[in-house]
Amino acid sequence: MNTPDPAPAVPAVSSVLVDGVAHLVTNDPALGPGPLGEVPDAAVVVEAGRVAWCGPRTRAPAADVRVDAAGRCLIPGFVDSHSHVVFAGDRSREFGDRMSGRPYEAGGIRTTVAATRAASDTDLLGTATRLLREARAQGTTTLEIKSGYGLSTADEQRCLRAAARLTDETTFLGAHVVPPEYDGDTDGYVDLVTGGMLEACAPHARWIDVFCERGAFDEHQARRVLRAGRDRGLMPRVHGNQLGPGPGVRLAVAEGAASVDHCTHLSDDDVAALAGSASGGGPATVATLLPGVDFSTRQPYPDARALLDAGAPVALATDCNPGSCFTSSMALCIALAVREMRMSPEEALRAATAGGAAALRRDDVGHLAVGARADMVLLEAPNPVYLAYRPGVPQVAAVWKDGELVAGRP
Ligand code: NIG
Ligand code: FE
Repeated sequence: MNTPDPAPAVPAVSSVLVDGVAHLVTNDPALGPGPLGEVPDAAVVVEAGRVAWCGPRTRAPAADVRVDAAGRCLIPGFVDSHSHVVFAGDRSREFGDRMSGRPYEAGGIRTTVAATRAASDTDLLGTATRLLREARAQGTTTLEIKSGYGLSTADEQRCLRAAARLTDETTFLGAHVVPPEYDGDTDGYVDLVTGGMLEACAPHARWIDVFCERGAFDEHQARRVLRAGRDRGLMPRVHGNQLGPGPGVRLAVAEGAASVDHCTHLSDDDVAALAGSASGGGPATVATLLPGVDFSTRQPYPDARALLDAGAPVALATDCNPGSCFTSSMALCIALAVREMRMSPEEALRAATAGGAAALRRDDVGHLAVGARADMVLLEAPNPVYLAYRPGVPQVAAVWKDGELVAGRP
């Protein structure tokens, strides 16, 4: 059989100059002042999906193509380090009831488990894909995705297979709650999670997570889960201190988890443990705050000021899920963090970008310096304070992931 001649070579665009940036947020203190390493009147050159150059626009090198930012602000793409977007079903009624006074409880997760088990692989992937696109259009360029609504070996595995189609940051959360068939036998369920379920799921996951909370898993059970995952090559992260004070934060620090998420109810010892993890020389345990959850469940907000003032590393994430918080908007989380948690606009943006990267132990995303992935968001705004200053207003003009335009247009 004759093979056709190859198509004539089209000259590939090898470099792009984003010029006319009023404020460039680098998150690199070597490049500019403040926690955001801001460069005014800046430009960025992208080559082969990475930042090849950034700095004052008057010194920018030539490139094949020029994009005009027209006096707007360019920031690193948001790193949303906590989501549960593989699920089926609808819990809007539960949300409505909650707003009428019914408290949020871990047990609501089982509603989603029943719907997820009944859904096809195609439907699960479809929902997750739609939510990933929704997040990306709002500036999220890295999204962690957890299992946790299957809670059987086969269902957890197919949830993780769907997640792995969409992101490298996949998390096995078989220990989300105890499924109905293990009622009264939490230890038996932990045997499954740390045994056959882990074996089936580990090839599709990077992380292991556990919900360490009253009504879910106690400290001993959570430690078993984290250690089994680590023995199988998965790195630990924890859901902790969401619904009340508890051992989750200190367990996460003791086990060297990359992140402990929620942190709504913190003791002084918890804050000290998180700050201490950052001063040990090794990688810290990041306190990942999820203000959308506290907003949607009418809980108090975490004491972000205590964490930041103590020197603990802080990230912001959405926790996008059908129960406790159905938002994919990192901008909303920033606005809540500023208004309700007394983070400065700069601290909040840093936590939503570099903070999320630290929570995922990634050094290639969450900042814009030479060599970083060209994951960038052009804001329809002159400076990054606008993210909190104009809450609820879409302000994302264009999103690049690995140097490719994936949403909007500049
Ligand atoms: O992060 N805390 C545990 N898991 C989720 C809640 C999921 C749900 O309510 O369906 C969370 O808030
Ligand atoms: Fe969660």
